[in-house]
Amino acid sequence: MGEQRRRVFATTDIGREALDRLRERGWEVDVYDHLTPPPRKLILEKVRSGIDALITTLRDGIDDEIFAAGAAARLKVVAQDAVGFDNIDRDAANRHRIPFTNTPEVLTDATAEYAFFMLGAVARKLYPAEVQVREEKWSTWHPYLPWLGDEVSGRTLAVIGMGRIGKSVINKAVGFDMDVLCHDPTYEEHSFIEAIRWLMEVRHRERLCPRPQTIEYVSLADALRRADFVSLHVPLTLPGTAEEPTLHLMNEERLRMMKRSAYLVNTSRGPVVDEEALARALHRDEIAGAALDVFETEPLPSDSPLRDEKLCGKLRLFPHAASAARATRLSPDPNVGMAGRCVQGVIDVLEGRYGGDRRQMPFVVNKEAF
Ligand code: GLV
Repeated sequence: MGEQRRRVFATTDIGREALDRLRERGWEVDVYDHLTPPPRKLILEKVRSGIDALITTLRDGIDDEIFAAGAAARLKVVAQDAVGFDNIDRDAANRHRIPFTNTPEVLTDATAEYAFFMLGAVARKLYPAEVQVREEKWSTWHPYLPWLGDEVSGRTLAVIGMGRIGKSVINKAVGFDMDVLCHDPTYEEHSFIEAIRWLMEVRHRERLCPRPQTIEYVSLADALRRADFVSLHVPLTLPGTAEEPTLHLMNEERLRMMKRSAYLVNTSRGPVVDEEALARALHRDEIAGAALDVFETEPLPSDSPLRDEKLCGKLRLFPHAASAARATRLSPDPNVGMAGRCVQGVIDVLEGRYGGDRRQMPFVVNKEAF
């Protein structure tokens, strides 16, 4: 009897060209081709029906029941089309010995540049500026009315979370003559700091920056107290799953530590910021502004305190789009696009690449299970 045809279920269309790499292999690819994610019940049904691979996004909660159903059926891999995977129960995946993959690296620069653009947009008031033109409220040129923005160049940036994206933000900030404060709740990478320091010295020596720039590791409290901009790049971790969980890392107390003139930027995960506390801090002018791409509940509910019109001038809101750039999202090349890297995770597992050793497969996250 020949081998059964491989079956893949994708909870959304991650990109035709990438999915064609699976179809070319003669595999059956079933795509839930709707704007919104499939109901959980449908995911369970598909898993029970004997799919070999499940392609997911951060909108799908993949929990113990789904992994248990997968282990009882034929599920061999869950491939997440994102770098973050807080929607996937890692312990459950390990208990059922099902590998799951993610798409690191290929979205690093797209996400970092978006964070930087958000920072610029909120500080230089790009949105109210455009509204002024569009709504025909641009009556004259005036030196400071109706408002002024705050400069970015030469200011101090705090990067909280020194993974790939945090480091890429720093690399970009160097070109804006910024000083950098680094903080990571779990590790410190001093060789990176040395490399950036060298770059800063060269820029100063060659008169590309008018004064010597600085970069250093500091405590979270120091970073918050000293920065003009605070950019968050930590994964979301819940109490009980990490030594220093990042849930509500930016709570009322920490927001208060920031300068009144400082801005907060979040492209990590929504629950890292206590939104109620942030709305209060903005209303009370305890910080100058914020730019958010991620929210505690997505899409942002209509009754969110962040939607208050009074905050509109100082709060920029984006639809979890930091990695939403063409090649980054759709390229079928695993070295370029999330879609390509996602299907490569499926191919590695289903074709038993790397001698079938899941610990050697570059995009498998839960290597500890094998
Ligand atoms: C997006 O948020 C991702 O984790 O890739």
